[in-house]
Amino acid sequence: MKKAFAKMLIVFAAALLIGAPQAAQASDLKGELEIFSWWAGDEGPALDALIDIYKKENPGVKVINATVTGGSGVNAQAVLKTRMLGGEPPDSFQVHAGQELIGTWVKADRMEDLAPLFKEQGWMDVFPEGLIKLIGTDNGIWSVPVTIHRSNVMWYIPANLKKWGVEAPKTWDDFLTIAPKLKSEGVVPLALAQNWTANHLWESVALAAMGADNWDALWSGKLPFDSPEMVKAWELFGKVLQYTNADATSLSWQQATDMVVDDRAAFNIMGDWAAGYMSTTKKLAPGEGYGWVASPGTEGTFMFLADSFGLPKGAPHRANAVAWLKVLGSKEGSDTFNPLKGSISARKDSDLSKYNAYSQSAAKDWKSNRVVGSLAHGVAANDTFKNGFASIMEMFLKTKNPQAASMACAQLAKKAGI
Ligand code: GAL
Repeated sequence: MKKAFAKMLIVFAAALLIGAPQAAQASDLKGELEIFSWWAGDEGPALDALIDIYKKENPGVKVINATVTGGSGVNAQAVLKTRMLGGEPPDSFQVHAGQELIGTWVKADRMEDLAPLFKEQGWMDVFPEGLIKLIGTDNGIWSVPVTIHRSNVMWYIPANLKKWGVEAPKTWDDFLTIAPKLKSEGVVPLALAQNWTANHLWESVALAAMGADNWDALWSGKLPFDSPEMVKAWELFGKVLQYTNADATSLSWQQATDMVVDDRAAFNIMGDWAAGYMSTTKKLAPGEGYGWVASPGTEGTFMFLADSFGLPKGAPHRANAVAWLKVLGSKEGSDTFNPLKGSISARKDSDLSKYNAYSQSAAKDWKSNRVVGSLAHGVAANDTFKNGFASIMEMFLKTKNPQAASMACAQLAKKAGI
């Protein structure tokens, strides 16, 4: 009898536990938390939603959302460098998974090893093995991934294409066939913005020109940067550039997207933060309001990049930063942030019902496509190469000389240790 009663009690207690709301207990952390990123303005809503979760869990912490505007971190990364080298690190900062993290801050021994946190939070099983490798070395794991973004996407407005009687091109040859017609009608065939977006366009064009195997071979040092494949990539890039807007260098990536949305341009090649911008800020529905295809000639390949946040050594509010990293890596945090951002979750257990049609299609491609790393967003090469490449791009935009650009890349690769 006693036994039966005890059993009943256990069942009752278990039922109570399961039924109990899963609300996280508020922490008693105090002081500040400075989060450093380039997710300002139009790029802010996803980060704001994540910060809201943090504030609920840590009501005693004052969050300083330190953003430096400028797509792809062009300005933020320079400011970060000054602060890190000046001994004034923020508590946590945005950094791309891959060489941007490993080849700079990890190499300089400026980051804390997060492997214990990964183990404690059960993240070793939750994040894909390949991604953990990308943010890790033999000595540790160095950041917490929050997004998986796709770089090689072409965007358009379906109603506009219908009006102009064109379809989204599957290859660059298709594009070069329809572009003169669009141009003669006063439509910019391909919207481009400031210089980093030229690097961004270049990687999609190069991937199409040389194929995924050669792309990977470049970064592992097996394909020389002055090879015929590379020259071909620059040649094609030069042809594509003829159909971009003349005022590109003065525009932000959002303004280039606006050109497509406002029917001044037919297409734009941009990472899928553009989907976040069009869905979250412009309130366009994926599929009807805006359309997408893999950038010409890259169907079946997912050129990826991942945003992550690390913990610099000497972070002034370390405990608050660790609590931030826990929110970032959590399922709730990830599935709150990514649907607004246009990215997909880096976690394998993400709840896809929370994502729109674009992101669901990206999630499918992420699983089934060949995956390669982005140059423009820190995966494929270290900062020495990436920054040097930006100068080569500036030279190319003026001279349009494929041989010279390829040779300059080969010299740069040597300097960058590729
Ligand atoms: C990328 C970053 C994205 C997005 C984009 C535009 O480098 O990974 O999350 O912010 O820049 O600024």
